[in-house]
Amino acid sequence: MRREYVPFVVAVVGWLGPAALLRAGDAQVTCSTCHTLQSAQLAKSIHKGLRCGECHQGPESYTITPTDLQRYTAPATLGASKPPFDHGSSFAGKPQRANIPELCGDCHANIERMNPYGIRTDQLARYWTSGHGKTLRNKGDDRVAVCIDCHNSHEIVSGKEPESRTNPLHVPDTCGTCHADAKLMAEFNLPVEVVDEYRQSVHGRLLLEQGDAGAPTCATCHGNHSAVPPGFATVGAVCGQCHQNASDNFATSIHATQPGFKGCVQCHGGGEGRHYHRIAKTTKPTGVMLQRYTHLLSSSPKPTALEVADTIHPDPKQLINQVLPTCTECHEELAEDKSLPKLFGLLDAIADAERYYVQTAHHLDQVGQGVLLVDNQQFEFEEARTHLIALAALQHTLNNATVEAKVTELKKVCDKVNAELTDLEDGLRWRYRALVPIWGFAMLFAVVLYAKYKALRAAFVKPLSGPSPK
Ligand code: HEC
Ligand code: HEC
Ligand code: HEC
Ligand code: HEC
Ligand code: HEC
Ligand code: HEC
Ligand code: HEC
Ligand code: HEC
Ligand code: HEC
Repeated sequence: MRREYVPFVVAVVGWLGPAALLRAGDAQVTCSTCHTLQSAQLAKSIHKGLRCGECHQGPESYTITPTDLQRYTAPATLGASKPPFDHGSSFAGKPQRANIPELCGDCHANIERMNPYGIRTDQLARYWTSGHGKTLRNKGDDRVAVCIDCHNSHEIVSGKEPESRTNPLHVPDTCGTCHADAKLMAEFNLPVEVVDEYRQSVHGRLLLEQGDAGAPTCATCHGNHSAVPPGFATVGAVCGQCHQNASDNFATSIHATQPGFKGCVQCHGGGEGRHYHRIAKTTKPTGVMLQRYTHLLSSSPKPTALEVADTIHPDPKQLINQVLPTCTECHEELAEDKSLPKLFGLLDAIADAERYYVQTAHHLDQVGQGVLLVDNQQFEFEEARTHLIALAALQHTLNNATVEAKVTELKKVCDKVNAELTDLEDGLRWRYRALVPIWGFAMLFAVVLYAKYKALRAAFVKPLSGPSPK
């Protein structure tokens, strides 16, 4: 064959080959030809490298008539009333909800498959331990969350992406699609307030209003895939990931070993009922502060209420009063029980330390406003602040002796600072007093000097006398 015919022959064969397989005018199409929406969603997702068939099976392509092509791709037929399409015998169809965990797990629980991407492979295993997984497996009830409820089916992106449903900022909404659904939750006897209470909680506000990633979201406490309540006996471990001091101290308290005591949420869960998410900031409201620290606020220049709020620690009694009804589960006769007076004694000791602290802060402010340098005292005073913060955590021991020892330490620092400030003030007063003789001497000297000047002037500068020149 002459060389110049080669391209021509190749072109004819290339054209005739597939054409010979097709009937005249037939078209070869892929899943994406008809399912433009899913194909566009997949192309934007982290799964863009996957083929449709990896989840749906079915052939790589179909041969269809031009009429069918027109029917299936015309916008009007893509609505609800699409004519049925024979996807072939290997096609697996739309995955059943109950099969989705295993479908995703096919790759995601496969270590070899996931290794190149550095993605962990425990999601499926954890899922089966979750409240969701157990109900799906044991009761066949598919109203629980399966992988796609949190991740989508085609538009899956990493949780680091701001728009992801699993991004911490969106997790409450994602869980809320079911957990804020009153009808659904009633059927499972679960409280529907959890999402709202979380949003109102100190954690929810911090995360959702201030965007502080240090605050826990639903998945932080319940696990991304485990979705089980932490359990009252071990809830301290969950909270302790961030509140180590409070949790270590609580572990030494008499309650830590009481069966039936609901751990941290017995006190921080906002009273009776299953309101375990109503965790509030324990800092005193501004009104209470204004009342209690008027002497500080009347100083000049006035510190703002916020500054005061920032320097002093939370009001423990307010919290305890709120949860008292839950204490009666064990402390039946609150009026006769010795526990409460003991607790309130402990809280009073803290309040006393707080007052001491504020007074010292006030003293420091006053002295610092004058000509004196109080940098050293300011520095020393920081230690008192550390003690104050420690006290808030230490009260979780319920151990009066431990708390009182800390209060004594705090007072010692305050006493030292106060004494130094008083010394500084005395020093200043002494210096003012010392100035009196110096000024007296200076004035005397001036008077003497003036007298001398007068005398000299009288001796040497004779007044001009005699007749004036013509
Ligand atoms: C010629 C157009 C066409 C092609 C090509 C096509 N589909 Fe479909 N597909 C349809 C239509 C129309 C429906 C809705 C009616 C029906 O269920 O048959 C549908 C339905 C589906 C469903 C939903 C089934 C259900 O049970 O609700 C899935 C999943 C699906 N297709 C996946 C695929 C995949 C994967 C491919 C490629 C392997 C593919 N389709 C190829 C037209 C097509
Ligand atoms: C990672 C697995 C996966 C891949 C890859 C995938 N799908 Fe799906 N697809 C699913 C799951 C899971 C569902 C069921 C969604 C549901 O129940 O809501 C689904 C549902 C569908 C449906 C039914 C309509 C709907 O959106 O619920 C169509 C049509 C469909 N897929 C088409 C495709 C096409 C076309 C591709 C390739 C471009 C593709 N899928 C790739 C997992 C996948
Ligand atoms: C055919 C194998 C396969 C299947 C089936 C599959 N995935 Fe994936 N998935 C992957 C691969 C591969 C990656 C990593 C892609 C990359 O990083 O480029 C991935 C990434 C992900 C990520 C992002 C992980 C991260 O980095 O944060 C999520 C989330 C995810 N898949 C969820 C799912 C869900 C949900 C399903 C079931 C609907 C599913 N996958 C089914 C292969 C699969
Ligand atoms: C109740 C919601 C929920 C369900 C159900 C769920 N996930 Fe996740 N998943 C998350 C959250 C939240 C994250 C953490 C944020 C992120 O990385 O996307 C996550 C992370 C991931 C990741 C990234 C790697 C990792 O472990 O951090 C993969 C992969 C993943 N999920 C796959 C799955 C698979 C597979 C299933 C089903 C067996 C599933 N998920 C079920 C909420 C869920
Ligand atoms: C698709 C709906 C749905 C979504 C989304 C969902 N859940 Fe659930 N969840 C349920 C249902 C239904 C139950 C009840 C299962 C049962 O108790 O039998 C449940 C149970 C739970 C339980 C166990 C309660 C118990 O006492 O055992 C926890 C914890 C939980 N979900 C947390 C979450 C978190 C956290 C998220 C979001 C990351 C989430 N869920 C997303 C439907 C959902
Ligand atoms: C700071 C940690 C924390 C966060 C954040 C958190 N939870 Fe919880 N959750 C708990 C604790 C503690 C319990 C109760 C402990 C137990 O029952 O073992 C609980 C219980 C639950 C229960 C079971 C309620 C019951 O009465 O049986 C559900 C459902 C639940 N949480 C869902 C959520 C959802 C949804 C979010 C996000 C909107 C969320 N949680 C955020 C700690 C948390
Ligand atoms: C007996 C009731 C009670 C229990 C149980 C309890 N707390 Fe507290 N908690 C309080 C009171 C009262 C305050 C306010 C203390 C103060 O301001 O002096 C407080 C304050 C706090 C604070 C703010 C002060 C600080 O330390 O930074 C945190 C955080 C805290 N608790 C976490 C926890 C954790 C975590 C647990 C479980 C390990 C827990 N609490 C268990 C009563 C309790
Ligand atoms: C992911 C970290 C994290 C986890 C887990 C966590 N918290 Fe917090 N919590 C924070 C942050 C951050 C703040 C706000 C900073 C602050 O004021 O101390 C906060 C604030 C608080 C406060 C208010 C403190 C105050 O000064 O008034 C209480 C009470 C509290 N958390 C209790 C809990 C309890 C109880 C749990 C477990 C059910 C828990 N936290 C779990 C991070 C966490
Ligand atoms: C599950 C049972 C239970 C609950 C609920 C409970 N306590 Fe106790 N508490 C005990 C037991 C048992 C003791 C040790 C015996 C005693 O002193 O009565 C104790 C002791 C105490 C003590 C004294 C510690 C000491 O050193 O003598 C205080 C204070 C206290 N509880 C406060 C509270 C407060 C406040 C609440 C409500 C938030 C509460 N308790 C709820 C069981 C419980």
